[in-house]
Amino acid sequence: MPLKFTLNGNEVSLEDVPGEATLLEVLRQRLDMLGAKEGCGVGECGACTVLLDGKAVDSCLTAAWQAAGRQVTTVEGLAQGEKLHPMQQGFADTGAVQCGFCTPGMVLTALDLVEQAPEPSDQEIRRAMSGNLCRCTGYHDVVRAVRRGAKYMRGEGEEQ
Ligand code: FES
Ligand code: FES
Repeated sequence: MPLKFTLNGNEVSLEDVPGEATLLEVLRQRLDMLGAKEGCGVGECGACTVLLDGKAVDSCLTAAWQAAGRQVTTVEGLAQGEKLHPMQQGFADTGAVQCGFCTPGMVLTALDLVEQAPEPSDQEIRRAMSGNLCRCTGYHDVVRAVRRGAKYMRGEGEEQ
């Protein structure tokens, strides 16, 4: 089936998308958006998280057709040229990235949270990030990274 949606601000138009294709498959295999990762494939790790109309979703569980006519944001759409998005900068400045496999999903989940709670408590951060698993980094650093990224997004604190 044909499929049109907006990806990181640009219209995309695809033909012959199988009805059973997931959004993750379409992003990675048809659109070369490799930021969303396939970890578990069954909705448990959060590595495939993208924003659909601003809400964090597991793209491995989202049918591609569900994106029709909607706005999809992947990690590739966040930086402005060489300048990282403030939330990405928060992760970088906190050293909350090791292998990086989980990081795109973490950053996008954090953006959904900050949209709802611009100054999230540690408890809110922990709750929001609980579906994003990391096999490398202590979760303590992730909480600090989200807190710092939220602060940068509010225009407080120095981005390094
Ligand atoms: S790959 Fe989608 S939640 Fe794990
Ligand atoms: S940094 Fe390696 S999985 Fe999180």
